[in-house]
Amino acid sequence: RIAGPCGLVIFGVTGDLSRKKLMPAIYDLANRGLLPPGFSLVGFARRDWADEDFGQIVYDAVKQHARTPFRQEVWDRLAEGVRFVQGSFDDDEAFDNLAATVKELDVVRGTGGNHAFYLSIPPGAFPVVTKQLARSGLADQTATDQWRRVVIEKPFGHDLASAKELNAIVNDVFPEESVFRIDHYLGKETVQNMLALRFANQLFEPIWNANYVDHVQITMAEDIGLGGRAGYYDGIGAARDVIQNHLLQLLALTAMEEPVSFHPGDLRAEKIKVLSATKPIGPFNETTARGQYTGGWQGGQKVPGLLEEEGFAKDSTTETFAAITLGVDTRRWAGVPFYLRTGKRLGRRVTEIAVIFKRAPHLPFDDTATEELGQNALVVRVQPDEGVTLRFGSKVPSTTMEVRDVTMDFSYGHSFTEASPEAYERLILDMLLGEPSLFPVNEEVELSWEILDPILKHWRSSGKPEPYPAGTWGPVSADKMLGRSGRNWRRP
Ligand code: BG6
Repeated sequence: RIAGPCGLVIFGVTGDLSRKKLMPAIYDLANRGLLPPGFSLVGFARRDWADEDFGQIVYDAVKQHARTPFRQEVWDRLAEGVRFVQGSFDDDEAFDNLAATVKELDVVRGTGGNHAFYLSIPPGAFPVVTKQLARSGLADQTATDQWRRVVIEKPFGHDLASAKELNAIVNDVFPEESVFRIDHYLGKETVQNMLALRFANQLFEPIWNANYVDHVQITMAEDIGLGGRAGYYDGIGAARDVIQNHLLQLLALTAMEEPVSFHPGDLRAEKIKVLSATKPIGPFNETTARGQYTGGWQGGQKVPGLLEEEGFAKDSTTETFAAITLGVDTRRWAGVPFYLRTGKRLGRRVTEIAVIFKRAPHLPFDDTATEELGQNALVVRVQPDEGVTLRFGSKVPSTTMEVRDVTMDFSYGHSFTEASPEAYERLILDMLLGEPSLFPVNEEVELSWEILDPILKHWRSSGKPEPYPAGTWGPVSADKMLGRSGRNWRRP
C-alpha cells in the first residue's frame, strides 16, 4: 500500500498539530517507503517565509517528533518537494500563487494533478478557505484519473445546527467522497483491534449483549492540563472536544452489529445504525457530571487550576471533565447503560473500554467465600499500555474455598515486535490512498451532535461545573452518578 503520485497542502502550518503530528507523520511515511518519490508538501500561512524557512520548520518538527530514525537521504528527498506560499485566507492572489505552485509541482515533482488540502485551522475559517479553493480552481479535478481531496480536523461544529452548516459549506465545494474528516482515535491500532476482537473470535460475541453485559464504561482520562490551549478550548469544553467524536466512535465500534464486510460503506452503515439508536439517558442532573479542575498536585508537582491557566476567562464555565449516560435502543443492548467519561488533570493518562458483565446467577459458595469477588470484566486498553485484560474469579490457594478476582492479560508489547504506527501516519496514508473506512462521514458527525445536544443544553442552564482538585478522578457528582445504581467507576 504505497501512495501513488500526489502532494499535500497544509493550512495552519504554524499550529501545534502540524508540528507535533502532521509533519513528523509525513516524514515517517516517507521513511517507511510509503510515499511516492516525488511527494510534495506545501505550507500555506501568513508568515513571511521562503521555502527554506518552512523547510527548516519541517526539519525541526521531524527531528523532534518523528517516530522513526532520522535518515539524511530520506529527508533530502522529501525536502526537495517542500514549498511555502505566503498569504492570508482572504487573499485571492495568494491562492492563485498556490494554484501556480501546485501546477509547477505536477511538472517538476510529478505529483500528477493529485492534491490533498489539509485544513488544520479553526472551523470558522473553513468557509473562506473552501471558497478560495473553489475560486482558484484548486478544488477542481482536472482529469478523471486525478483527484482533489480535503481533510478536515474537528471540531466539526459546536452543535448539530452548526455542524450541518459546516457540512453544507464543505460539500458545496467537495463531494462527500472527497472529504476526509479526521478522528485520530480511529487511526489507533487498539481501536481497530476492537473489530478484530469482536468479529474474528467466537469467544466474546455470544455474551456481547444485554443478557450478559451489566454496563459498559468508556474512559478517556488525561493527566495534562490546558495551559496554552485556551484559544481552542475555552467555551468548547470536554464533551465537545472528545466525547462528540472520539468517545462516541469508541461506543459505535463497541456496540455496533457485525458489518457485512470491511468495505467502507458496510462499516459506516453499521456505525450509523448504532449511533441512530443511541440516546442520552436522563434526568441529566443525576445521569451526567461536569467538572472543572482546580489547583492540586500531580506527579509530585504543584499545578494550577483551569482558572489560573493563561488565557482562560476568570469566570470561565468551560468543563474539563464530563461524564454522561447513554442507552442503545436495540434488542442487543436494551437496558444496558453506557457510561462515557473524560477529563483533564485526572489521576493518570489512560483510555479504555471496559465491558462489565453481570454476576453469575447463582454462587454455590459460602457467603464469605465470595466477598472479594467482583464482576467479570473485559477491558480493552486503548492507551498507554495497549492490550486487553480479562478479569474473572479464581480460587485463592489455601485449604478453604475463597474466590477472588484475578486478571489475564494480553499486551501488544509482549505479543508483537512491530511498533504500532502513529494514528496520524495511518490516517494520512489512507487519505492519500483514497481509502475512506477510518473517516467518519457527515451523517455520523451529525448523529453524534444529536446525542450530545440535549445534554449540552441542560448544562447551559445548570450553572458552573463542579470543581475537582487536579490529580483526582473528577468531581464527586461523577461518583454519585454511578453510585445511584450501585455501580462504581473503575480506577484504571
Ligand atoms: C484531541 C483533543 O482530539 O485528543 C485533546 O483535542 C486531547 O484535547 C487529545 O488531548 C488526546 O489525544 P491522544 O491521542 O493523546 O489520546
